[in-house]
Amino acid sequence: MSQDTLLVCILCRFSETQLSKTESIPGQMLFDQLSHKLAQSDQETITLRPVRCMGACSHACIAAFMAPNKLTFILSQLSPTDSVSDLLEFSRQYIAASDGKVPYKDRPATVKQNIHAVLPSLPHQP
Ligand code: FES
Repeated sequence: MSQDTLLVCILCRFSETQLSKTESIPGQMLFDQLSHKLAQSDQETITLRPVRCMGACSHACIAAFMAPNKLTFILSQLSPTDSVSDLLEFSRQYIAASDGKVPYKDRPATVKQNIHAVLPSLPHQP
């Protein structure tokens, strides 16, 4: 199992208005679609983990890419449907980049537009 991990908040919702239109929770929808697509892949895939809130609830949907010794990318305002293919493409790029530094020009549009924060990796411990 890859140490490269994609965290997805499964509790993210947009607003009370949105809730009345559908019973599906957008964060759970996003997680389920990513899980379904990753299960179909025959390549090494990112480890998908559900998270119950990352504290950025007003910016739903929220996801984060993280791995030891790599940059952490936190993405916000993701569509639970339209962002899936770009997140999968970035997953492959992130796994391939030893330090997580996927060149900006190569990132899928969703990742360029929806970065909430990029965090440095922790320094190595002796
Ligand atoms: S409910 Fe998704 S970040 Fe809080």
